[in-house]
Amino acid sequence: MCGSEGPRWGWGHHAPGPTLLLSVLVSAAPLGLLGEETRQVSLEVIPNRLGPPQNLLHIRAVGTSSTLHYVWGTTGPPAALLVATSTPHSTLAVNWSLLLSPEPDGGLTVLPTDSIRFSSALVFTRLFEFDSTNTSEVSAKPPGKPYAPYSLAEFSWNNISDFLDPATLSATFRGHPIHDPTGAFANGSLAFRVQAFPSSGRPAQAPRLLHSADTCQLEVALLGARPRGNRSVFGLEVVTLGQGPDCPSMQEQRSIDDEYAPAVFQLNQLLWGSLPSGFVQWRPVAFSQRQRGRDSALPCRTSTLHPTLEYPLPQSAIVRAFFGSQANFCALNLTFGASTGPGYWDENYLSWSMLLGVGTPPVDSLSPLILGIMAVALGAPGLMLLAGGVFLLLGQKQCSEYQPIN
Ligand SMILES: *[C@@H]1O[C@H](CO)[C@@H](O)[C@H](O)[C@H]1NC(C)=O
Ligand SMILES: *[C@@H]1O[C@H](CO)[C@@H](O)[C@H](O)[C@H]1NC(C)=O
Ligand SMILES: *[C@@H]1O[C@H](CO)[C@@H](O)[C@H](O)[C@H]1NC(C)=O
Ligand SMILES: *[C@@H]1O[C@H](CO)[C@@H](O)[C@H](O)[C@H]1NC(C)=O
Ligand SMILES: *[C@@H]1O[C@H](CO)[C@@H](O)[C@H](O)[C@H]1NC(C)=O
Ligand SMILES: *[C@@H]1O[C@H](CO)[C@@H](O)[C@H](O)[C@H]1NC(C)=O
Repeated sequence: MCGSEGPRWGWGHHAPGPTLLLSVLVSAAPLGLLGEETRQVSLEVIPNRLGPPQNLLHIRAVGTSSTLHYVWGTTGPPAALLVATSTPHSTLAVNWSLLLSPEPDGGLTVLPTDSIRFSSALVFTRLFEFDSTNTSEVSAKPPGKPYAPYSLAEFSWNNISDFLDPATLSATFRGHPIHDPTGAFANGSLAFRVQAFPSSGRPAQAPRLLHSADTCQLEVALLGARPRGNRSVFGLEVVTLGQGPDCPSMQEQRSIDDEYAPAVFQLNQLLWGSLPSGFVQWRPVAFSQRQRGRDSALPCRTSTLHPTLEYPLPQSAIVRAFFGSQANFCALNLTFGASTGPGYWDENYLSWSMLLGVGTPPVDSLSPLILGIMAVALGAPGLMLLAGGVFLLLGQKQCSEYQPIN
């Protein structure tokens, strides 16, 4: 009598099975179930009292048993270090005379060194510009005839002390080329806005990347710079630390939910090791207007990651100071937009966002809107199925209570 003769539900093959429904419910579970954590975040500019002033920003995010250190600097091209330690008490030590010397190795350390569980770095080396006028193919690589790139090592940056916003835990590095013979940047700048988070959430502005306390967001914006052509497509070269001889791995994740980023069903990830390790995450979309939406969304294309041994790249003093001269680097190119559709030419504006963090990258759960649509689509059969499942479970439980007697 145990269930075998119980009610036969006639769902057949056309209704979602309990497994599907269950997996939908699990993936819709609030992020809290995946280990929500909060951190005490502080921003600090580390002054160089002895020599020439430098921009060095230290973001410290302290949890109950770990500390994340993000170090952003513009000594050389803009760069970020990410160091995760297994103690809430680790500290950053800077030896300026070493850091600014030709051999900066050891100029930056996180103490105690044996508490370091993960460390890596990102360097933003060059801003590319292409003339896409004659490029009809949307996915052409490169997206047009290249102009001479801007080396970000030869930019001058604002004083980061004046652009800290403790209220939002953010800071903005704003720079323009030191030598600008054509005056292209007379009214323009390239900005790197970094923001840390005490807990998980999602910003109000697209692409609305889901963040956690273990991540830091970077928003890169080019604004007001005069393009060199009518159809200029811009790109950014990003350099990262390899693992031994290999480059980090790149992943594309599909998402069925596009509520938070218009028509973008994909999430790109760069992973520095097997999970959980460090990661960079972004949606392949940039925006050509401050008002970010479908109308201003540009595709963001990513090249493969290559070791940079073949060509010289500007060195970041802070990366060299922390990792020494033995580190291997890998580079990737991002390009924003194509010859058709919205572009930088709309408003001389371009923005793109990414997350840098440690642990398991945040995963989008289904949004309430999508859940609502699914509930309507599944409708009554879905609800009955759910009720049926509960009924069956209860039934089995009753049976098992009787089994010992049999
Ligand atoms: C930024 O301003 C502070 C205070 O005004 C000053 O001490 C520091 O040297 C400046 N830094 C840079 C990079 O100019
Ligand atoms: C910084 O490094 C130099 C060179 O290694 C060393 O002589 C100096 O004592 C260090 N300064 C501090 C404050 O540790
Ligand atoms: C685009 O094509 C036209 C006609 O073939 C040519 O005159 C022009 O120089 C080309 N422009 C670029 C940027 O290649
Ligand atoms: C910069 O802005 C000023 C005032 O808006 C304008 O007169 C000037 O032409 C602009 N310069 C460039 C290079 O765009
Ligand atoms: C840009 O467009 C204008 C007007 O359409 C045209 O006169 C000019 O030659 C174009 N410039 C380039 C570099 O293609
Ligand atoms: C990035 O683009 C530049 C210029 O087009 C090229 O020299 C470089 O090899 C590219 N790097 C990668 C990793 O594709």
